[in-house]
Amino acid sequence: MNFLGVLTIFVTVLGIAIDGCNCKTVQFIFGDSLSDVGNNKYLSRSLAQASLPWYGIDFGNGLPNGRFSNGRTVADIIGDITGLTRPPAFLDPSLTEDIILQNGVNYASGGGGILNETGSLFIQRFSLYKQIELFQGTVELIQAKIGKAAADRFFQESRYVVALGSNDFINNYLMPVYSDSYTYNDQTFIEYLMETLKAQLKILHGLGARQLMVFGLGPMGCIPLQRVLSSTGNCQERANKLALSFNQGSSKVLDSLTKTLPNATYRFGDNYDVVNDLITNPHKYGFNNSKDPCCSFYNIRPALTCVPASTLCKDRSKYVFWDEYHPTDSANELVAKELIKKLGLMDGGAPSPAPAAIAPSPKSAHAHSPKSAHAHSPTSAIAPSPEG
Ligand SMILES: *[C@@H]1O[C@H](CO)[C@@H](O)[C@H](O)[C@H]1NC(C)=O
Ligand SMILES: *[C@@H]1O[C@H](CO)[C@@H](O)[C@H](O)[C@H]1NC(C)=O
Ligand SMILES: *[C@@H]1O[C@H](CO)[C@@H](O)[C@H](O)[C@H]1NC(C)=O
Repeated sequence: MNFLGVLTIFVTVLGIAIDGCNCKTVQFIFGDSLSDVGNNKYLSRSLAQASLPWYGIDFGNGLPNGRFSNGRTVADIIGDITGLTRPPAFLDPSLTEDIILQNGVNYASGGGGILNETGSLFIQRFSLYKQIELFQGTVELIQAKIGKAAADRFFQESRYVVALGSNDFINNYLMPVYSDSYTYNDQTFIEYLMETLKAQLKILHGLGARQLMVFGLGPMGCIPLQRVLSSTGNCQERANKLALSFNQGSSKVLDSLTKTLPNATYRFGDNYDVVNDLITNPHKYGFNNSKDPCCSFYNIRPALTCVPASTLCKDRSKYVFWDEYHPTDSANELVAKELIKKLGLMDGGAPSPAPAAIAPSPKSAHAHSPKSAHAHSPTSAIAPSPEG
C-alpha cells in the first residue's frame, strides 16, 4: 500500500472517532454517604468511614467496600435496573481513562454537602464544589484522550446524579457548633442552599452535563439518630419540615434552569412521601422495624457508627435503617423502584439517549403536586445530533 492509502485510512479512522464517539452511556454521580462507593475509604483522615464490618455484609464478598449500608445504594439499584454500569469511586487507584469511558465515575463522599463548610467535623470529605472540581479534571483527562469533539459528545450523552443535602442540615445547620446554625434562619438557610445548588448545576451544565437527576431529601427527622435525640423518641418535625422546604426549593431551581439552560433535561426525584409512608406503616411494605438501627452497640444510643463489636438485627431485610443515619439495602431498593416509577426511567426504553421521549412536557410536569416527582424537559425538543 502506498503512502496515500495509509494516510486515507488513518484520516478515516480518526474521523469516525471524532465524529461518532462510539461511546457507551455512563453515569457521573455526585453525592454524600448515601451514594459513596468508596471515596472516603481512601481519605485516610476522614472520620466519616464505612471501612469496618459490618458495612457491606450483604454486598459481594461481604467485606466493607466503602458503602454506608449493608448492601447497595439507591443509585446502584437505579443503574442496575435501567441498564447502566456502576461507576467506580473517583479515588479507586485502578481508575483509568478507559474505565471512565466504560463506567463513568462516582465522586460521592460521606459527610459531604452542598456547602463547603458542611461536615467540617469529619475533617476530610468532598463537598459538592470539590466533587465538581474533580469532575472538571475528568473532563480534561478524557478530552486529552479522545479529543474535544468526541469528549463533548460523551459528556453530553452521559447521565448525571446529584444527591446531597442531608448533611447540610444534620452535619451543619442543625448542629449549634456550626456557625451557619446561628447565621441563618430556616428560610434564609434554604435560600442560601438553593443559590449554591443552582450555581453548581450551572457549572455542571457548562462542563457538558445535559441529563441530570437531583434526588430530594427523605424525612430526615425520622432517622434513628434524630429520634434518639428527641425527648419523645418520635420524629423531629422541624428537620422533616426543612426536608420538605429543601425539596420544594430544589424542584423550583430545576424548573428555572430548564427554562434558561439550553438542551438540558433536569429531573427531580422526590422520595419523601414513600419513605415517610414506609416509616409510618412498615408492615405494609413487608418491614418490621422503622425506628431502630439494625446494627447497634448493646443499648448504647446513639451508636454513631456500626463497628465489629456491634450486634446485628436478626433479619436485615425487615429493618428500614442499617445504622443511625443510613437505610438498609432493602429500604434503598424500595426507594429506587419508586424513583424509577415516578421519573418514568423505564418508559421508552431507558437508557436510550432520547430524553424527549421519556420526559413529560413541561406542562404536564407542572400538573404534579409539589411533593411528587417532577420531570423537567426543555421547551425545545432535543433533536438527535446528526453525526450520530
Ligand atoms: C468551595 O471550595 C472550592 C474548592 O473545593 C473553592 O474553589 C470555592 O471557592 C469554595 N467556595 C466557597 C463559596 O467558599
Ligand atoms: C417483628 O418484630 C417483633 C418484635 O418487634 C417480633 O416479635 C416479630 O417476630 C418480628 N417479625 C418478623 C417477621 O421478623
Ligand atoms: C443544543 O442542541 C442543538 C441540536 O443538537 C445544537 O445545535 C446546539 O449547539 C446545542 N446547544 C448547546 C448549548 O449545547
